[in-house]
Order: sequence, then C-alpha cells, then structure tokens
Amino acid sequence: MGKVVVAARLPGRVGEILAGHTVVGPAPGEAELPRARLVAELADADGLLALLKLRVDDALLDGAPRLRVVANYAVGYDNVDLAATRRRGIVVTNTPDVLTGATADLTMALMLAAARRLGEGAEMIEEGRWHGWEPEQLPALDLDGAQLGIVGLGRIGQAVARRARGFGLRIVYSAPRPAAPAVEAELGARRLELDALVATSDIVTLHCPLSPATHHLMNAARLGAMKPRAVLVNTARGPIVDEAALAAALERGQLLGVGLDVFEHEPRVPPALVSCPRAILMPHLGSSTPAARAAMAELAAQSIADVLAGRRPAHVVGG
Ligand code: DGY
Repeated sequence: MGKVVVAARLPGRVGEILAGHTVVGPAPGEAELPRARLVAELADADGLLALLKLRVDDALLDGAPRLRVVANYAVGYDNVDLAATRRRGIVVTNTPDVLTGATADLTMALMLAAARRLGEGAEMIEEGRWHGWEPEQLPALDLDGAQLGIVGLGRIGQAVARRARGFGLRIVYSAPRPAAPAVEAELGARRLELDALVATSDIVTLHCPLSPATHHLMNAARLGAMKPRAVLVNTARGPIVDEAALAAALERGQLLGVGLDVFEHEPRVPPALVSCPRAILMPHLGSSTPAARAAMAELAAQSIADVLAGRRPAHVVGG
C-alpha cells in the first residue's frame, strides 16, 4: 500500500479504486491541491494523479524520490518530461478512448460554429445591429461537399471524420504514417502531405499530439497558405498553432473563422483573439462531459492502483 497524491477533486470512483492507499488531495472546499502542498506531499508519495497543467519535470521529480507512477488525467501528456520519468523508472499513463467522443463532439461544435459564423451572428443581435433578413448576410461555408483536412488521424481524428461524413464533408488527412486501409475505406479518407492538405482544405482541424515536431505546425506560412475563406479548428494543444500569426491572419481577414478550445499559454488568451468575432473560443472543454471526466478519473486511478500492485496498467506512455 502506498501514498497517492491526487492533484484535484475528481468525479468517479477514485476513492474506491485507491482504497487501501493513503490518498492526499484537495481539502474540503478546494478544487485543486495548491502547488506548494502538492510539492510537499510528493516528498514521500508513491503515485501522482496529475492534471495536464502540471509540468512533471526534473524540478518536480527531484522532490519525489519514491514516485513510481504518474497517471496523467488527460490523453495528451506533453506536460510530462518522459526522459525525466524514464531516468527514474517512473511509469507514466494517460486516459485515451474514454474522451474520444466528447472531444470529437466539441470539435464538430466549433467547426459548425465557425463555418456558420455563429459568433458574428450572435454579436449582431446582442449589439442591436440586426435590422432584418437580408439576402447576403454573413455568408457561410457550405459543409456539404467541402473538404475537411484532419491533421492526425488517431482516435479523435477518426471520430471527427465519422461525424463529419454525416455533414457531407470529404475527408483528407495528414499523418506520419498511413492509416490502415480499412480505416481509409470506412472514412473515405485520402492521405495528403500536410502542405497540400492545408492549401486545399476548406476546414483544417488539428488532432495531432504536441511535440517538438508539431510545435507551431500551423505557422505564419501555413496559415497564409490556407484558402481565403477556410476555417481552422484546434481541440488538440494550443502551441500547435502560432497564436500571434493566427491573430494576424484573422486581422487581415484571411480566414472565415476559427474554433479554438486550446491556447498557447493557458489560461491566457490573446486579446486579439478574444475581440475577434470570427474566433469561437472555448476554455479547454473537449472532454468536459460528466461521463468522460469520470471515466478519465477512474482510468487514471486504476493505473496507479495497478502499478502499486505490481501490475502493468492499460495505457502506459512512458517508463
Ligand atoms: C486531454 O485529455 O488531453 C484533453 O486536453 C483534456 O481532456
């Protein structure tokens, strides 16, 4: 039995799964364990259930000499320095699958909102600028027959493609490796080089992990190469898009709209995006359904229970 630090108040059966262990988490009334207490508790902890905003690196791990497992409460794990955990023999796990549908749904919501200009329409009404029906008011993007470019055809990318086909979108994708022929056939998906995808798609949606290779993947040049009335959606990780370049592209009227759930320096959102009516912005809510968040918590807790019991957890990403 060990000591487990749980970084936040979580839904689901976390307590039950970790029964028998000493679990340290937020005090009553706290949503999260304050950093100073978390660091102090890690001094003799065996397991850590971490939030994606906690940087798990040498600086943190130097103060956690007994740690055997870090269960990241997210499918993305770019906040964890895997070289640092590997050097210490710490197992790192994530929470795939259980949030795929929820994240794909939010991607579709952002895609539809940006393509149909919901932000601008709502603002027009809120500001009293709507004076009645007009033939050419806020012309939108027709989804039926448009090309959707999916960057990263993993679980979430595929779930988006399945949903998008119901709207008549044609699917192209870019990925380091081709998807299985059966997946390509099911989705009617064609693989393109990233630059060709960006230049020919009406909507580009990002579903790749954040890594040094994908940092600022959507840079000024690629944003500039997008079609003039294209839409960009990002529910993956903020730093995949160069936010300053995106704000500049919107400023010069280049894109029809953007839908963003993630930002380069969360929770900071650039004022230029906040004030842009063509930017539909959400506070990193992709997996935010009660079922997904509870399942993520239980998966993360189970990973810790497994490692501390000497079993290999289901979703090891490092260690
Ligand atoms: C993840 O899981 O990586 C999301 O960003 C949060 O659910």
